[in-house]
Amino acid sequence: MSSLIVKPSGTPLIGSARIPGDKSIGHRSLLFSALADGDVVVKGLSPGKDNERTRHAMAALGVEIEDLPTGQICVHGVGLRGLKRAADAIECGNSGTTMRLLAGILAAQPFDSVMVGDSSLSVRPMRRIAAPLRLMGASLSGESGKDEDEIYPPLRIGGLGDKRLQGIRYEQPVASAQVKSAILLAGLFAEGETVVVEPGASRDHTESMLAHMGAPLTVLGNVITLDTRGWDGRLQAAPISVPGDPSSAAFIVAAALVAGVERVGVYDVCMSRRRTGFLDALGELGGRVEQECRSETSGGPVADLVVSYGAADHLQGAVIEGEMVLRALDELPILAIVAARAHGVSDFRDAGELRIKESDRIATTCEMLRNLGVEVEEREDGFSLEGLGGAPFKACEIDSHGDHRIAMSGVIAGLAADGPVRVTDAANVATSFPSFVETLNALGAQIENGE
Ligand code: S3P
Repeated sequence: MSSLIVKPSGTPLIGSARIPGDKSIGHRSLLFSALADGDVVVKGLSPGKDNERTRHAMAALGVEIEDLPTGQICVHGVGLRGLKRAADAIECGNSGTTMRLLAGILAAQPFDSVMVGDSSLSVRPMRRIAAPLRLMGASLSGESGKDEDEIYPPLRIGGLGDKRLQGIRYEQPVASAQVKSAILLAGLFAEGETVVVEPGASRDHTESMLAHMGAPLTVLGNVITLDTRGWDGRLQAAPISVPGDPSSAAFIVAAALVAGVERVGVYDVCMSRRRTGFLDALGELGGRVEQECRSETSGGPVADLVVSYGAADHLQGAVIEGEMVLRALDELPILAIVAARAHGVSDFRDAGELRIKESDRIATTCEMLRNLGVEVEEREDGFSLEGLGGAPFKACEIDSHGDHRIAMSGVIAGLAADGPVRVTDAANVATSFPSFVETLNALGAQIENGE
């Protein structure tokens, strides 16, 4: 299993970086344009493994996706009724978003489907999508596992034949963009009105992109309504531009804050308010990150993020909780590394959802911090830690537990350690950020591939 070895960076980081396209928007660009009426050109799709899974899944369902000489792709949309039964089980790899969103589409098809995942995805809960989809009339089953009330992949979805799903009103027990999206995707095929009520403002890329393609969708506060009555069932083939992934940008920004920086810029980062909680959290921790060249694009607001000399001079402990957590959900492990460099105690609360990500991220983040010499107290829905006040982390070995965001957080911590840090099981950085090592090394880091 491949590892990464990080040597502490003796000199401050300097330079500018491009990051992969946003993973969440990338999945949606592939799924929605496959259902469009015509060809959709997608610019800026990430080369990461997760988006590749969605691409292959749609190809398995009969959608032709072409690489253009410009580096863009062209998805030859087949319309809402044009998907074909996959010959084999659809492999979703590590990608929960592929499995959960695609379930919404497959639940509405006339044919049967099976979706499988890797060892991490195979222990992630699927009742959260199965329950609302069943209420709409879908037939879904999974495997039993650790929690007896849950179902786990492989997911088997029974074909509807010539029946249709029915719209429902669904109040989500937990804010989740994946669950919301699965219901809305099923709602595209359903009779009548599908209404999702969110308890918190999760990422809204599904709503924006469906509206961009002409779906009959309205959003009023936390209530999203898709009403297919009187709709011609056609999603318009409009081009899609995918901005840089803020969840990947967070690692570069954090590297600059923890390792020392002269000036580091990250270009074209998606600045959707529902995705930028990590910038607010860094502000709470006393880190200074500037936004430059902010502009509106068809993919929403984007900006360049700049971290300059002195940006980490006043890092102090903070409480990270509430809606900020939802807006920084995937960034909490790397925020914990920044907090661990600060003076004083930091407390991460309201983060119970982290227990069911690519790993149990509360447990794996706490284990990583302990290995690095940080005192941590783990709770069911979060953790608190005692910052080292600028003192280096302890040289150590960190197991990613198959989780790309733990692997990358461990590497960033290694930039500020008192000796080499080895991160094991690290090939998974390619899930979301295949050029992670090259990007950091170009800024002055020293990261090598190990056994
Ligand atoms: C995602 C939603 C979030 C996030 C995941 C991507 C999406 O998951 O953690 O990485 O693209 O919809 P939940 O919906 O489970 O909160």
